[in-house]
Amino acid sequence: MDDLNQLCAEILDDIAAASDEAALEVVRVAALGKKGRVSLLMKGLGGLDPDERKAAGQELNTLKTELFDAIYARRTALQSGVLDARLAVEVIDVTQSARPETPGTIHPITQVTDELVAIFADMGFSVVEGPNIEDDFHNFTALNIPPEHPARQMHDTFYLPEAEDGTRKVLRTHTSPVQIRTMQAGPPPYRIIAPGRTYRCDSDITHTPMFHQIEGLLVDRVTHMGHLKGCLIDFARTFFEAGDVPVRFRPSFFPFTEPSAEMDVACSREGGELKIGEGGDWLEILGCGMVHPNVLENVGVDATEFQGFAFGLGIERVAMLKYGIPDLRTFFDSDLRWLRHYGFSAFDQPSLAGGLAR
Ligand code: DAH
Repeated sequence: MDDLNQLCAEILDDIAAASDEAALEVVRVAALGKKGRVSLLMKGLGGLDPDERKAAGQELNTLKTELFDAIYARRTALQSGVLDARLAVEVIDVTQSARPETPGTIHPITQVTDELVAIFADMGFSVVEGPNIEDDFHNFTALNIPPEHPARQMHDTFYLPEAEDGTRKVLRTHTSPVQIRTMQAGPPPYRIIAPGRTYRCDSDITHTPMFHQIEGLLVDRVTHMGHLKGCLIDFARTFFEAGDVPVRFRPSFFPFTEPSAEMDVACSREGGELKIGEGGDWLEILGCGMVHPNVLENVGVDATEFQGFAFGLGIERVAMLKYGIPDLRTFFDSDLRWLRHYGFSAFDQPSLAGGLAR
């Protein structure tokens, strides 16, 4: 009995001294494993006479239970100690913003589109969209570009296969057909912008077969060139975030506007570096004009009562100018290094109050 108490005390000491789960397992095997000290004593019971065997068996069972409980308690304590240690090391600061290094970025096209929308939405323009596959009427005829008009050649149009009735749809060559669709959809006034994809069969360092434009249309009872200029000057200054950036309007030609103009912003190219907003050079950024009366009549708007202005601008072009992106074709290469370099954080939504680009 004393021996048994002695043995129990020893093993309990070993259990208490085990500093990790592996050490505890060694103690357990040495005591309760097949050849453990307690197990060998159990085996020895067979040699005792029945009364002794019963008493000794009970004592040994009590001992075994006590040791089991002690090992279990020690293991639980060691495990929770390990957990506490891990928790102490792997601290998560839940007040920190979500992953500081997001793997994805906002493409410059998306970013600049959002910037343009923010600017014009602030002036009261609403955003509309039109189909990428257009019919001849919306893409050309209604815009005062009749069949055989030389402007049709200028557009390098992608034609779809001929339909049964002999007509051919086109991939829209500009966003201007959205003007027509907007005016057909309801009575004036109109004040819309239409960003989207456009297509021309053309590919070199400054042209890609698919590119993006944003169209603007404002039609009301008294609209004149002064409104057009005010609106677009305001836009250029906000977009380029360059104070009083000088602009000029050059006479131009578009079949759907009369008069027509192109707007240039001042820039300098000193030392091979392009800077918007200063210097003696000019850079064209958009086409614009007063909506041609024929266009208004083509959609049933009385041109003696309503006038308007329209503008169209290439999104890649202004993105390249604003963010110093040298090659148009890289926009569509899906090169991850390019996207990381020129892309924007998804958390920086452009807004006039918060800043267009940070
Ligand atoms: N649609 C023209 C183009 O693709 C751009 C344009 C010029 C649109 C003048 C307009 C405008 O609305 O008034 O080249």
